[in-house]
Amino acid sequence: MTTRFTLNGQEVEVQATEETPLLYVLRGEMGLNGAKYGCGLGQCGSCTVMVDGEAVLSCMAPLLTIAGRDVVTVEGLGTLEEPGPVQRAFIAEQAAQCGYCIPGMIMRTQAILTANPQAEEDEIRQALEFNLCRCGTHMRILRAIRRARDEMQAATPEGAT
Ligand code: FES
Repeated sequence: MTTRFTLNGQEVEVQATEETPLLYVLRGEMGLNGAKYGCGLGQCGSCTVMVDGEAVLSCMAPLLTIAGRDVVTVEGLGTLEEPGPVQRAFIAEQAAQCGYCIPGMIMRTQAILTANPQAEEDEIRQALEFNLCRCGTHMRILRAIRRARDEMQAATPEGAT
């Protein structure tokens, strides 16, 4: 079966069965290894990407549900030379220990701040319930998210929110 969707701003076409998880397509077909295979069961969040602006667990998203939609992975937020604002905040706060959860954390953060640039601490903590970090860098991750939120707000022209 052929599935077409937008991936990091580019139209793509994939040949795979409709039940193939998006995560397998990203890593196996597209060579995008940012989204990580953790549990494969929708329980860890390491595979989080954005689909039409919302955080989605790509291990639980069959291709069937992705057709015609807009997928963004951590690779789509910036480059090594020019990381995006959320990526910069995670680097500045040194929020990674082993780093395995970080792409998912970054994508969850991007989705939170896209939906609500003024997200309060409670909302951020609630949204992050879906993303686990077994190294225990939660405090740094929270600092990174606050930094990203504050820097993105400061960069937004007044009245443009
Ligand atoms: Fe998708 Fe764990 S790999 S939630």
